[in-house]
Amino acid sequence: MTLAYVTVAGFILRAVWAFIDSPLREKKWARIAPHVIDTLLLAAGVTMVVSLSLSPFSGWLVAKFAGLFFYIGFGVLTMRAASTRLKVLGFAGALVSVSYIFAVAMSRQVWPF
Ligand code: HEM
Repeated sequence: MTLAYVTVAGFILRAVWAFIDSPLREKKWARIAPHVIDTLLLAAGVTMVVSLSLSPFSGWLVAKFAGLFFYIGFGVLTMRAASTRLKVLGFAGALVSVSYIFAVAMSRQVWPF
């Protein structure tokens, strides 16, 4: 859960840097840290799936993977888009996607609303 909050906080920080074109985003640690955090998050997820004997194809986990797919895609758009408009679109899409992931994780429902 801590890693889930850290990944979102880190994403928001890097998005702000992308919007203001901060030189901080080019720092080596700033480029490596998200991969370390996200790898640990994925490893924690896989460990829980195995230790709780969950099926990776159970509905809510598949919904989480779908949310993750969109979170990554919109995240890449936020960091790489040439125009501010597309960056804003990516940022909004990523926040909606990760909010959905949180809602699914906490409710264990595909449609948690
Ligand atoms: C951005 C990605 C992710 C976020 C933000 C996230 C978030 C969370 C959160 C907040 C919880 C705690 C829910 C609660 O009990 O209150 C959780 C639990 C869990 N997550 Fe994730 N997660 C992510 C990715 C993954 C992935 C990729 C997997 C599987 C490979 C996974 C598998 C699980 C499992 C099995 C649980 C435990 C559910 C239980 O206690 O029964 N998560 N996740």
